[in-house]
Amino acid sequence: MSKVAIIGAGNVGATTVYYIAEKNLADVVMVDVVEGLPQSKALDYLHAGPQRRYGVEIVGSNDYSAIEGADVVIMTAGMPRKPGMDRMDLLKTNVGIAKAAAQAVAKYAPDSVVLAVANPLDVIAMVMLRETGFPPQRVCGMAGVLDTSRFTYFIADALGIWPGDVNAVVLGGHGDSMVPIPEYTSVGGFQITELLDARTIEKLVDRTRNGGGEIVNLMKTGGAFYAPGASAAQMTEAIIRDDKKILPASAYLQGEYGYNGLFLGVPILLGGGGVEKIIEIELTGEEKEALRLSAEGVLAGVKNLDSLEQAG
Ligand code: LAC
Repeated sequence: MSKVAIIGAGNVGATTVYYIAEKNLADVVMVDVVEGLPQSKALDYLHAGPQRRYGVEIVGSNDYSAIEGADVVIMTAGMPRKPGMDRMDLLKTNVGIAKAAAQAVAKYAPDSVVLAVANPLDVIAMVMLRETGFPPQRVCGMAGVLDTSRFTYFIADALGIWPGDVNAVVLGGHGDSMVPIPEYTSVGGFQITELLDARTIEKLVDRTRNGGGEIVNLMKTGGAFYAPGASAAQMTEAIIRDDKKILPASAYLQGEYGYNGLFLGVPILLGGGGVEKIIEIELTGEEKEALRLSAEGVLAGVKNLDSLEQAG
């Protein structure tokens, strides 16, 4: 049985465990600094196992050594947003948490694939890459799957159809300037530009960009966790089963799409080795410009990260 380590037993971490257990996908260890929290949630999940028919091992711990030998590490620990906050506002707090986690990952799970989920996601992915010293193929960020899932839902809802028939694409950083790509988005094989008018598509694009914020504003105490958990579990499945799925994720670019040395949401081939390939698709001038704006946001975050490092 494969082993998945989840750092952070908050809403996103614990929900990811749910989806992994329901699929009998892997043994899971949850690590959190709060005493008793991961242990209690692990026990609660084990109690549900006989009814839900899963037999995976679920362990909670306050000690990083519990992640020993993990095949996949999902980094969810960190503060969530509150209303009025941008994901980048979380940078300082969450970078510190990510650094400690990354050092533990390098020590206890040196062969793992790391999935960054905490925000600001594309910057946290960078911290995980730098601090683990892993090759870039083994570090990626989750958000493209989440953003695409939201876009897919909004399209299906607007058309009154089953979401399984929608194939959507969202690129860019996981921020309000992410880049949904209607030209590559289809329903039952037909481009959505053939099925919906430009104004409606624009509205769906806007709602996708603000999808996380809409939930933060409603919830007030934190952000989304069911869809982020489902997205992290889907990516974990692709890695564990070596599915070689094409999906959008935050990957470390080294010249692709004209960017070097930053994480940005692009289509990747995800399999047992992690990011096995970055897929370059042809973008229109407008899409390239939108991607540039989105990359600028991520670059600003990385600059912030660098000045934090220099300040010690
Ligand atoms: C969201 C947070 C998790 O988009 O970034 O819901």
